[in-house]
This record gives sequence, structure tokens and C-alpha cells, in this order.
Amino acid sequence: MQWFGQAPANIALIKYMGKKDTEKNLAVNPSLSYTLENLFSNVVLEQHHGQKDRWEPLDLPGLPAFRLSDNAIRRFLLHLSYLKEHFKYSGQFIVRSNNNFPQGCGLASSASSFAALTKAACRALSELKHVPCPNDMEQAVLSRHGSGSSCRSFFKPWVIWDEHELEPIDIPYRELIHQVVIISKVEKTISSSEAHKRVETSPLFNGRITRAKQNLQQLLRAFNNGRWEEAFQICWREFTDMHQLFSSASQPFRYLGDESRALLQTVKRFWHDKGDGPLVTMDAGPNVHLLYRKDQKPLCDEFQQHHLVGNYDVL
Ligand code: PMV
Repeated sequence: MQWFGQAPANIALIKYMGKKDTEKNLAVNPSLSYTLENLFSNVVLEQHHGQKDRWEPLDLPGLPAFRLSDNAIRRFLLHLSYLKEHFKYSGQFIVRSNNNFPQGCGLASSASSFAALTKAACRALSELKHVPCPNDMEQAVLSRHGSGSSCRSFFKPWVIWDEHELEPIDIPYRELIHQVVIISKVEKTISSSEAHKRVETSPLFNGRITRAKQNLQQLLRAFNNGRWEEAFQICWREFTDMHQLFSSASQPFRYLGDESRALLQTVKRFWHDKGDGPLVTMDAGPNVHLLYRKDQKPLCDEFQQHHLVGNYDVL
């Protein structure tokens, strides 16, 4: 028997950074994300009679081979154990998975992969245990135990996650054009769990919860009042705040290198010249996410033609 789950990634404009409960993955501050329907993970679960669960790549003909680090495999199987325990199931599975985008380089792959695993496992385990399959909200809460940000991938397009509360919200910009400019596909060496711990040692962590809450309220107000440029400024302030927490931790780490900075400057100049431009954000990685309104398609094409083509890979 096989069970399938698929889930999209999401990009936070207000970042989840720092945990108040490391077991349940409860964030210290509320976050706001946009669901990225073009970037997703697939998981297939198959029962097997071995001693342990096992991970394998879900390689599809025509697509590059998919690999996970040993650490990522361990975390993935640990989450499956948590779900099996939740359903009181003692059998074993082969877990096959892939993403349609690079893994572990700040493209929110943990969100989509843990959400896809949770979906596949809820289908499998509810069927095997003859119990009703949990609804989306219940699955999101289960998924949060594996990766906090994955709980936001169960809804679209906009989601606010605040501690135990998870709420899809209505924002006037329902459909955005999303691009990720790839600065590096190298898998990051500091896991997000480690990042959540290290940021607490930064002197800037003091006041972070207030700043994130203020950024969230101001961003919602800017969106609701159609103030796009103000939204751009708030998103910029928010991701640079997170990256400053990284670089000022007692064991500092950095993703914002010369190449990311050069691209950010190009986007800033573009905004200055045109009086318009995309929202910009960065996750825990060097890659740069751009979000345009639908009516900005010509602007998006112009930026791509003049500044990206020939210089960067874009997803
Ligand atoms: O869900 P985690 O533990 O992989 O944390 C991800 C946190 C960020 O991606 C850096 C920010 C966010 O809100 O998604």
C-alpha cells in the first residue's frame, strides 16, 4: 500500500525566529507568510516489514536526482515517529520524497517537506488505524512539531501564525508573482533549529518580539490601505532584522554576503529609478525572494531582462 502527500513552501514576510517552546515549536513572535504554490514537496509512504523506517529519494524520470543530508533524513524520520506515536501505530514505512526546487538553502524546503510528510502520514495512519483523517488545521498543528514554519503551508495565500493560533487571512493582494533569485544552492550548515537557538544570544534579541509585532501590524495596515512602497520598506526592515540577529549572535553566522548585497542594491536602485518595484525578502539563506503584484508584470519582466538574465538563475 502507498500513500501520497504534496505541500507547497511558504515565504515569511514577518519571520518566525526564536522559540518559546522547543518541543512543540511555539514561536516567540507572530509570523505572516505567503504560500508559494509553485515550490512544493512530494512524499510517498509505503509499508515495509523491516525493523526501522527508511528514507529514499523519490526520483522521477527526467528530473535531477534528489538527495537529503543525513541530518535532514534523521529529522524527517523523527517526525514520522512522532506521527506514528500520535496514531499509536507500530509498523514501519519506506519514506520517499523530493522537492521541485533545491533543498536546504533558504528556500523554505523544511516547510513544504514536513507538511507533505504530515499529509501523507495522516492519510496512511488514519486508514491503517481505522480512524478519521485529521482536518487541515489538526494536520497543521501536528506538522508544526516537525517544523514550525510547515504549519503555515496548510493554507493559502496568506497565513498568520501566532503561538497556538493559525489563521488564513484576507489581504487585498491575493495573487502575487514570486521569483527567487538563486545566489547559492549550497545546503546551509546552520540548521534552522540551531538558528532559533543562536539568535537568543544576540543583544538585538532584546526587543525583537516588539519589533516583529510592530512590523506585522504596520505591514497589515500598509497592505489593507494599498500602500505597496511602505510594505516594501517594512519587509526590508524585517528580513534585515533577522539577518542582524544571525550576525550578532554569540556564535555568529552570515548569509548576507557580497553577492546577496549586490543584488539587494540593484533592487533598491530599481525602486528609486522607477518609483515602484517588488517586495523583497530573504529567508535563512543567501537567496533573494521577489514578490510583485500581478499588474506589475511588465515591471517584473523589465527587471528580469535588465538585471537577472545572464547573471543569475531564477526560480
Ligand atoms: O520551521 P523552521 O524551524 O525551519 O524555521 C524557519 C524559520 C524561517 O524560515 C527562517 C523564517 C520563517 O518564518 O519561515
